[in-house]
Amino acid sequence: MPALAPPRRIFLVGPMGAGKTTIGRQLARELDLTFVDSDREIEQRSGVDIPTIFDFEGEAGFRRRERAMIDALTQRDDIVLATGGGVVLDPDNRRDLASRGTVVYLETSVDEQLRRTRRDRNRPLLQGNDRRATLERLDAERGPLYREVADLVVETDGSRRAATVERIARALRDANHRP
Ligand code: S3P
Repeated sequence: MPALAPPRRIFLVGPMGAGKTTIGRQLARELDLTFVDSDREIEQRSGVDIPTIFDFEGEAGFRRRERAMIDALTQRDDIVLATGGGVVLDPDNRRDLASRGTVVYLETSVDEQLRRTRRDRNRPLLQGNDRRATLERLDAERGPLYREVADLVVETDGSRRAATVERIARALRDANHRP
C-alpha cells in the first residue's frame, strides 16, 4: 500500500534544551523535508547573534524580530521548523503555528533542560545565577501555551534523540493515515 505523504509543515515547540534543533534536523532528513531554525534565520537576517540582539534591543526587540520571522517561516512549505522557546508568548505566533501546520511539543523536564544547557553561553535568559529557578518559572508560564498549540506532545526525557525522532515520524504518519 503506498504511504500517504506526511504533513508538509512541522513546527517544533518546547523549552530551551528540549532538543528542537537536533531532533528537527534528524526529523527533516527522515521525512525528506527542509530543516529551518528560526533563531538562526533571525541571526542571519540581522547579521548578529541573539545575545547581541538582546544587548542592543532588549528582549522586546528580539520578540519583534521573532514575530516577523515566524509569520514568514510558517508559510513555507515542506519544512521542519525549530522555534525558540519563547515563541508561544505572542498570541499571533500561537495562531500562526496552530493554523498553518502540525505542531509538535517536545516536553522536557527542568532537570533534563539543566543538563542540556549546562555549558550554554548563548541564551540570554539563562545567564543569571539561578538557572533552575529561571527554567521552572518559564515552564510554569509557557507549559500551558505549548500545550495549547500542540497537535502532538512528545516526552523527550530519557530517550535517545534517534528514538524520539522515530516516535514523532511514526505518530505523524499514523495521524496522516487516519481517514
Ligand atoms: C529563548 C529561547 C532561545 C532563543 C532566545 C530566547 C526563550 O531559543 O530564542 O534565547 O525565550 O526561551 P532555544 O529554545 O532554541 O534555546
